[in-house]
Amino acid sequence: MPAKPMPETITGTGTGTDGNVPAEAVAPLIRGIAVLRELTEANGTLSLSGLERATGLARSTVDRITATLARMGYVRFDGRDVHLSPRLMELGNAYLSALRLPALLSPHADALADELDESVSLAVTDQDGIRFIHQATRRRAMSLSFRIGDLLPAERTAPGPLFATEWTAADWQRWRDRRAADPRDLSFTAVPPRTHRPDARDDDAFVRRTEEASANGWSLDDQLIEPGLVAISVPIRTPGADGRIASVASVVSHTSRHTAHDLRTALLPRLRSTVEAMERELRDTPPPEPGPPPADLALWTGASKQQLGREFIESLARGLTVLTAFGEGREELTLTEVARATGLARATARRALITYEHLGLVAPAGRTFTPTPRVLSLGFPPLSRTNLSEIAQPHLADLTSRIHESTSLAVLSDSGKEIQFTARVTTARVMSVHITVGTRLPAYATALGRVLLADTRDDAALASVRSQGYALVDEELEEGLRSIAVPIRDRSGRVVAALNTALHASRRTPGECVTDLLPELTVTATRIQTDFHTAARFTHVPPS
Ligand code: PHB
Repeated sequence: MPAKPMPETITGTGTGTDGNVPAEAVAPLIRGIAVLRELTEANGTLSLSGLERATGLARSTVDRITATLARMGYVRFDGRDVHLSPRLMELGNAYLSALRLPALLSPHADALADELDESVSLAVTDQDGIRFIHQATRRRAMSLSFRIGDLLPAERTAPGPLFATEWTAADWQRWRDRRAADPRDLSFTAVPPRTHRPDARDDDAFVRRTEEASANGWSLDDQLIEPGLVAISVPIRTPGADGRIASVASVVSHTSRHTAHDLRTALLPRLRSTVEAMERELRDTPPPEPGPPPADLALWTGASKQQLGREFIESLARGLTVLTAFGEGREELTLTEVARATGLARATARRALITYEHLGLVAPAGRTFTPTPRVLSLGFPPLSRTNLSEIAQPHLADLTSRIHESTSLAVLSDSGKEIQFTARVTTARVMSVHITVGTRLPAYATALGRVLLADTRDDAALASVRSQGYALVDEELEEGLRSIAVPIRDRSGRVVAALNTALHASRRTPGECVTDLLPELTVTATRIQTDFHTAARFTHVPPS
């Protein structure tokens, strides 16, 4: 049967969130997105009543939305609090992998940050703001540093004037309207509010900076965000004679190390040569092979509906899966391709796309749709600052509640001789060994240590740990203590942490540890790993 022709643009509402809601938009999807946005703005956590206030939704609606999001692994409950979960980053990951710039350009940005010992970032344009897609951050406490997904007002940044060189009259008008509506930048929660209402002179200053950026090919931020914070930026252009600005690279410093003048004289040449290398990378890298579409998600949502009944909002779950259809080599998809990738009916996929276009989360281009940088506003900034022990903590709590034994996560110390505990959940039972987060123990004597060492050493005594995939240590460290541990691997397969449970020897025989506890440990390790790999796809996730 021939497909119904798609109109060029499926709605006429533009990309803003204001304006009329299209009749075919999916209301539960709009509300679910509002919940995710409020949680993001609140830095990842809100109570259920806090969510009720922030969204203006009825409590019963908030309950059903959060139950659905929890079922998807996008949020988790902790008492009355709702926390964003790392799994939610799969939405931002879909945008970032479709965009492809982070994969191609981040290694260059990281190398420049190492060379200069200064932070280096990559930003894209997002309406009248700039949004970060990569941060190679140096740990310095002197000024605030931005996260992947943070949105900044263009006029208070170094990249802004460069992007504004490509603005249309309508873009400039949108910028003026926004400044009039929000003179103190309160809608940009990543920056401190402006102390003065902008006047005509401020407007002129941004127009002048844009003219200078156009003439110079670089742009400065001399403490426009906060005192001390300085940045210099250079545009990265797409290949071809009329190359448009794909992204902007910035070197960020502090006036205690570099004045804005220093940035221009000392650092600009090195930033420029890095940008040239980035542009060569864009020119010389062949187009991506389309990655596999996600597994058949429609089946999963149907099953969840059957299990959770009224509490599960299937239209929200189905709508959210639409964003995961995008990815590397899948940056522009037709309605048919989205329906095929998600297993959703065409009509369902179409209504989700109409909703996303209305919310500014996808943009139509002819017959195809592409995700926008705004997808990063769904959880990415707070979640991009996580570490492995934080990711593991709720999984340890789950495991402990299932097996009624203390559980821990540990990493190897720099010397490789000790393990250090990075997360721990204890039972009420008193254990003979007093261990807290931070405690160090000799690596070789512990099950945790043996799992960690087995990956790094070709030691005959550890060969069985390697082949079995776990270590069991029986009363070696201390009489009466039995411990069983399994590895946690990074995306490349390297063991970066170990998960264990330790119990009094009288509670279970070694055989029972393997038959009863090992399967639970393995399931938990896989869950931790899945979250870890999702979080680490485009961000650096430190051990603790
Ligand atoms: C940053 O990457 O943190 C950054 C970039 C440009 C600015 C300010 C901060 O103007």
